[in-house]
Amino acid sequence: MTKIEKIVLSYSGGLDTSIILKWLQETYGCEVVTLTADLGQGEELEPVRAKAEMSGVKDIRIVDLREEFVRDFVFPMLRANALYEGQYLLGSSIARPLIAKHLVGIAREVGADAIAHGATGKGNDQLRFELAVNALDPSIKVIAPWRQWNIRSRMQLLEYAQKHRIPVPSDKRGEAPFSIDANLLHTSTEGKSLENPAEVAPDHVYQRTVDPVDAPDTPEIITIGFESGDPVSVNGKAMTPAALLTELNRLGARHGVGRLDLVENRFIGMKSRGIYETPGGTILLAAHRGIESITLDRAAAHLKDEIMPRYAELIYNGFWFAPERDMLQALIDHSQAFVSGEVTLRLYKGSASVISRASPCSLYSADLVTFEESAIAFDHHDAEGFIRLNGLRLRSWAARNGR
Ligand code: ARG
Repeated sequence: MTKIEKIVLSYSGGLDTSIILKWLQETYGCEVVTLTADLGQGEELEPVRAKAEMSGVKDIRIVDLREEFVRDFVFPMLRANALYEGQYLLGSSIARPLIAKHLVGIAREVGADAIAHGATGKGNDQLRFELAVNALDPSIKVIAPWRQWNIRSRMQLLEYAQKHRIPVPSDKRGEAPFSIDANLLHTSTEGKSLENPAEVAPDHVYQRTVDPVDAPDTPEIITIGFESGDPVSVNGKAMTPAALLTELNRLGARHGVGRLDLVENRFIGMKSRGIYETPGGTILLAAHRGIESITLDRAAAHLKDEIMPRYAELIYNGFWFAPERDMLQALIDHSQAFVSGEVTLRLYKGSASVISRASPCSLYSADLVTFEESAIAFDHHDAEGFIRLNGLRLRSWAARNGR
């Protein structure tokens, strides 16, 4: 085993990372510094301090990263309308590079030579943490206890916890909890009965959105303001990025917006089934597409849509801090200069639909598109030539085929 001087651990205070903390101290016999990031997971973080103290941690970092998370990670990703495999808003994927960045920052500050995380050997998160660390500081080693120790299952993890008198949390029904990852953008739930994709997810899996069936019978109309591609206000009220997403989460959750039951392809090779709740993010995606629809040129919009799956896959696979993501980001950001204005949406029983949009930078011309007499010079004969030339090759092709 390599000698390690000091480790910075990504520590949630939950079962897995509590056990990891104990295991690191025992295995490496060195100081462990803990980083607990507030990403808006909606849990009290101060109890984490007491837990870490009890385990003998001297340097305990609890940092509020909510604004940085939304401003520098969620919003840039939203500019791309990023969805993995057409549906997943990447709520866990986008949080990892931010945590990795802070792990590396603290490691440098305290002179630690390694960071550690609680991601398992089967998931995507290990890639996101470690590829980010590689890109940010190749001198820092990564310890992934799940790949090193001989605990092989959640069952064995619980046994280890009992042996070391580490409290085991249970859900409201007294059962072992699902594997949950939550932040301001989403809550993701995996494991247990969800591992059978043929089985319908039980209602209690959903934690932050109401069932659309039980959502209010009256729709709610909201307006979101955009400036250069980023949302800046809700119902006319200017808000910071984190405050804005928090408010949209509240509105969306009430109307059952943003639920997703998905089987996805993990980078590591297997398929997995998860339940996602992304209320505010779902509203923002619809709204952003709404404002882009009047402010982006057609070819610019289509080019964005072409690169989007590639960009989303980079984020999903853990390449946030890679040169190709930077390059695509530059293209996306460049496209957003005129993506400003207001979008109105109707939230109703699980849906968030754009019902109007307006912009001082609009490319939309009612005068040009109108079915009525138009003031703008548009020669209808031009359309005839346009069609004739576009049809030229089709006529040759059809004649050859003997039609
Ligand atoms: N499958 C999702 C992803 O790879 C979420 C992973 C973390 N979620 C969890 N419940 N453990 O982004």
